[in-house]
Amino acid sequence: MRLLDLATVAFRKSTAGPRRRQGPLRTSQAMVPLPLVASREADWIDRFYVLDHKNTAVAPTDSDRLKCLNDVAISHGLPFPLKPSMPDRRLAIVTGTSSGIGEKVSRQLLQRGWEVIGISRRAVALDTPGYAHCSLDLAAVARLAAGLETQVGPRVRDRGLTRLALVNNAADVALLGQVDQLEPAGMLQAYAVNTIAPVLLMGWVLRTAPSRIPVRIVNVSSGAGVEPFPGLGAYGNTKAALRLAGMVLAAELDLRAAGGAPRDATVWSYEPGVVETPMQDAVRSSSAETVPIVQVFKDLSAQGLLRPADAPATEIVSHLEADGHPRFSEQRFLLS
Ligand SMILES: NC(=O)c1ccc[n+]([C@@H]2O[C@H](COP(=O)([O-])OP(=O)(O)OC[C@H]3O[C@@H](n4cnc5c(N)ncnc54)[C@H](OP(=O)(O)O)[C@@H]3O)[C@@H](O)[C@H]2O)c1
Repeated sequence: MRLLDLATVAFRKSTAGPRRRQGPLRTSQAMVPLPLVASREADWIDRFYVLDHKNTAVAPTDSDRLKCLNDVAISHGLPFPLKPSMPDRRLAIVTGTSSGIGEKVSRQLLQRGWEVIGISRRAVALDTPGYAHCSLDLAAVARLAAGLETQVGPRVRDRGLTRLALVNNAADVALLGQVDQLEPAGMLQAYAVNTIAPVLLMGWVLRTAPSRIPVRIVNVSSGAGVEPFPGLGAYGNTKAALRLAGMVLAAELDLRAAGGAPRDATVWSYEPGVVETPMQDAVRSSSAETVPIVQVFKDLSAQGLLRPADAPATEIVSHLEADGHPRFSEQRFLLS
């Protein structure tokens, strides 16, 4: 069954029982006037029908009811939602939950009542009922869509969801080195994990999720994706490409909205700063020949200036729970 938009959902003040199957309804049939919606909402929500693909009226699900109610509220400038009668079901897909920022994001989301699907190669000790782990190697990009479909698809298609988040956080930093030291295997691996997999994930999520629910995408970026840091060229390239892909996706969503297919989906390119995680340990333990600016990272650590991973996690979670973002936005982190 598909939920048609306000123009094609027919409402009927009939005496027929709301759950009885009706013959085809025409869109010209009376739309319930707003005062009735506002004053007799309980009555009204029991008396609308959803047209299935054969244009046959069938009883709506709870999620259909809420969607219709809120569409009417929005179209008449009423506060949204008019009456949230469904439980809030927020699902987040977070990559890289086995360590660092991704683990903290997952913990905070779970504490705030989100359901979380985490993706990483290693298992995760997040022993709460709201967490489901998906063991995937994001470097295996050719198998990614099939893995997502099997392990995550039904959860993302769930019509009871009220919000969906994708946090593209996992990254491969193994590839450090000056440009004339880079070799192809490492570059392919870093591009697969840091650019190709997150781009594929953005597309898969938008294709798969019900189009009526808000989608918040966070692409965890890096200053190295915008500034030329010696020794971080390949890593920076992967982040620069992901940042641009987010901008392009936003432009495409804008174009579709202008063509009559609006969608509440936004992309945030987010720089967490210099954060106390295993990835930062790896950068700091590089030689000056590999990363000529390695002393900067050592000094920041020695001066206690690394951010705890909970700090960027809190910023990410706040963003995921908020509305009114531009289609694409970004947060840079500049060391003063
Ligand atoms: N830490 C910083 O100072 C800093 C600064 C700027 C940006 N960032 C960005 O912040 C994000 C998180 O980094 P972090 O510092 O929290 O690093 P981290 O602690 O090393 O965590 C990296 C995560 O990525 C996952 N991952 C790596 N390769 C993977 C693969 N092939 N398949 C699936 N998962 C994979 C790891 O899981 P498995 O190994 O279990 O697969 C791990 O959970 C990254 O995007 C990073 O670029 C970090």
